[in-house]
Amino acid sequence: MAIDLTGRTAIVTGAASGIGRSVAVRLAAAGASVVIADRTPLPWHGGPSTEHLVTAAGGTAEFMACDLAVTSSVEAMFARAEARWGHVDIVVNNAAVSTGTSLTDTDDADWNHVLAVNVTGVFTLCRAAVRHMLDRPPRGEVRGRIVNITSQHGMVAAPEDIAYGVSKAAVAQLTRQIAVEYAAQGIVCNAVAPGKIETGPSARAEDPRWHEYWTSRTPWPRLGRPEDVAGAVLFLASDEASYITGVNLMVDGGWMAG
Ligand SMILES: NC(=O)c1ccc[n+]([C@@H]2O[C@H](COP(=O)([O-])OP(=O)(O)OC[C@H]3O[C@@H](n4cnc5c(N)ncnc54)[C@H](O)[C@@H]3O)[C@@H](O)[C@H]2O)c1
Repeated sequence: MAIDLTGRTAIVTGAASGIGRSVAVRLAAAGASVVIADRTPLPWHGGPSTEHLVTAAGGTAEFMACDLAVTSSVEAMFARAEARWGHVDIVVNNAAVSTGTSLTDTDDADWNHVLAVNVTGVFTLCRAAVRHMLDRPPRGEVRGRIVNITSQHGMVAAPEDIAYGVSKAAVAQLTRQIAVEYAAQGIVCNAVAPGKIETGPSARAEDPRWHEYWTSRTPWPRLGRPEDVAGAVLFLASDEASYITGVNLMVDGGWMAG
């Protein structure tokens, strides 16, 4: 399946690192001009910036600083992207944070920050994108496409991570709300729910207790890679995905089927 996104502009949040970085590389390789919307240009797990990766491979990408916890920062980033390319066709809401804490260990500041980034940030960018897309002529049946990254941990309890789990459930519902409310105007809104995806060394990744949990829950004989998620996002961001809206597509090695 050769997907061609030439002439399209895509914003990918959290694209400096991990899954978002892989999504940005994949969309750019398909011909899209990609905005790397992140707090920082450099990946936390090391390596060159995503902008460098994309441009070195002959693609088009530009880092635009953005803090999803701040509404004005999200709106300014969107306006910059619109001014730079004249239109925004694809938005991938990928960035998210977590505290790794249970209910009784989560203080107000942590709760509010997770909800601000993972839910309000997604809401703000979706609102800016849909307002913009509604003013655009349709390409075939579609005025614009949104792909939100959720998690299996928004469908079942996120162990020791209450704010994260609640935030991901909210994004799944946000996806359905937008899909249904704007289908008639040609806005497509879907989600991708990764299972456990290995992105780099972290406290949980190095803890045998968590590794055992992930592998025991994952039927496929390996954990996920960022490219696994990027392939699904590329599909949903493209015209190959027709008559599909409001879904929360699992890329989890079978976790939620078990
Ligand atoms: N890795 C997994 O196992 C997994 C599993 C299920 C779902 N997910 C979801 O996939 C997405 C990506 O996860 P990941 O593991 O690649 O994350 P990551 O932590 O590797 O990268 C997140 C990126 O978001 C950026 N970011 C954080 N806060 C921000 C803010 N306030 N404003 C702008 N950017 C900000 C970070 O700088 C970073 O580049 C997230 O939505 C996550 O919930 C991941």
